[in-house]
Amino acid sequence: MAKTILITGATDGIGLETARMLVAQGHSVLLHGRNPAKLARVEEELSALPGAGTLEGYVADLSDLAEVAALAEAVAKKHASLDVLINNAGVFKAADPVTAGGLDLRFVVNTLAPYLLTERLLPLLGKTGRVINLSSAAQAPIDLEALTGRIRLGDMPAYAQSKLAITMWSRHMAEALPDGPVIVAVNPGSLLASKMVTEGFGVAGNDIRIGANILLRATLSDDFAAASGRYFDNDAGDFAAPHPDALDAGKTEAVVRTIKSLLTKVAPTQTDQDPPQ
Ligand SMILES: NC(=O)c1ccc[n+]([C@@H]2O[C@H](COP(=O)([O-])OP(=O)(O)OC[C@H]3O[C@@H](n4cnc5c(N)ncnc54)[C@H](OP(=O)(O)O)[C@@H]3O)[C@@H](O)[C@H]2O)c1
Repeated sequence: MAKTILITGATDGIGLETARMLVAQGHSVLLHGRNPAKLARVEEELSALPGAGTLEGYVADLSDLAEVAALAEAVAKKHASLDVLINNAGVFKAADPVTAGGLDLRFVVNTLAPYLLTERLLPLLGKTGRVINLSSAAQAPIDLEALTGRIRLGDMPAYAQSKLAITMWSRHMAEALPDGPVIVAVNPGSLLASKMVTEGFGVAGNDIRIGANILLRATLSDDFAAASGRYFDNDAGDFAAPHPDALDAGKTEAVVRTIKSLLTKVAPTQTDQDPPQ
């Protein structure tokens, strides 16, 4: 049966390849991008695929949390339910890695934006939906002073900390929602041939379909149906123990508390403002 799937960062790399595969299988795909012209080109290309399912495009710069909230609201306006959210958009290097709000861009795009988007879309995902969060083999213990923007990090520490943070909140949110949706963190495989890897590491990289195939499996396959809270390491080709910090309840609580406090400044959605019935 065709599913309705939102993919963030569907304009390039692993997200684009995953969208291409899902669209070709006839699924209804909600493509997110930050660049309207690039998103329009992707929509045009994918809609021409034989057997293409329905396509919709959504523009939002995920480094601006108000735009993340607006993205959730735009999706909720058009859809009563969503089968899968793939939080794929991510950033490693940037010319200016500090956002207007004074936070590190990697923490905002790779950690906070997917948290906020997931939280706002939970009513659409219900108990049977799935949330697939892009983690990485690069993970490092989180310095809360860096997460809150009080100290600055280099590209690799910021990226690796943002990826452990998404792995930690994935597990934490999954534990808080034992009836679903399924929430998993996935390392798609290392050094896959995307612009992040060619620009960031100066190497050609491995076949991007390694990453897209595992996201397809996480989206559709039964072996992820009971995987909520788990970490899939595609370098190992299997579910694996997460970084030890993700198993540490105290450290996880501290990270999630900090994420929540950073997100309190974001405008509530219309639904949040509605008086209880
Ligand atoms: N490639 C790897 O080997 C590898 C390994 C481990 C994990 N990952 C993770 O896999 C995910 C996809 O990465 P990739 O390698 O495919 O990288 P990529 O080719 O650079 O694609 C990243 C996607 O995220 C979007 N994006 C970046 N910043 C954004 C922002 N501020 N607002 C909205 N969208 C934004 C990009 O939009 P534009 O098209 O406009 O640039 C693009 O669509 C990331 O989360 C990455 O950390 C990748």
